[in-house]
Amino acid sequence: MKLIIDDVNIEKIKDVFSIFPIDGVTSNPSILYKYGKQPYEILREIREFIGENSELHVQVISESSEGMLKEAHKIIKELGKNTYVKIPVTREGLKVIKILRKEEINVTATAIYTQMQAYLAGKAGAQYAAPYVNRIDNLGANGVQVAKDIHDIFEKNNLKTEVLAASFKNSQQVLELCKYGIGAATISPDVIEGLIKNACVDVAVENFKKDFEILCGQGNTMLNCR
Ligand code: G3P
Repeated sequence: MKLIIDDVNIEKIKDVFSIFPIDGVTSNPSILYKYGKQPYEILREIREFIGENSELHVQVISESSEGMLKEAHKIIKELGKNTYVKIPVTREGLKVIKILRKEEINVTATAIYTQMQAYLAGKAGAQYAAPYVNRIDNLGANGVQVAKDIHDIFEKNNLKTEVLAASFKNSQQVLELCKYGIGAATISPDVIEGLIKNACVDVAVENFKKDFEILCGQGNTMLNCR
């Protein structure tokens, strides 16, 4: 499962990249709004930092297919070929996915709440389909199960599309999908930090240090003991 950061805050992205094995960055219009900088300004900065080998996912705003196509072309021109254009799976969006894939532009089908949306996006050629796990949970359904179903649907129908699960609120949701072997998860920096936070680990490391210092003296390590 690829691990992707769902944020555009460049300071947070740099910090998370320096610690975790990260494959790319996703954004959406609300995330851009929260950060407050002009979209291409910050997205160019992110592209420069992550390099051209990491994935960057950027969403269109238009509702018409003509508008979405124009935005997609501009996004690729500004941010490079390894950018995935996020297209909401609406009626117009499906049409755009088919056209963009014929043009060999990378597509992440987004705003997915149902298995059938994902199947249609996959059949239209999208490389990724992004179900919104926590938002689905909040509707009283089971977001993790929807993401698993989509993974199975792609496999059983011989579609190359991968699940790029989004909208996580806790480590358990991520773990469940990791165990299932989905293609990718895009996660906010806070939830990524939670993947490794564990007081028991901290206590264990602290106790190892204490024992070692009793043996070799305070402040000593394997570097300066006999
Ligand atoms: O792009 C979709 C995803 O980022 C949604 O996350 O936390 O707003 O539900 P959230």
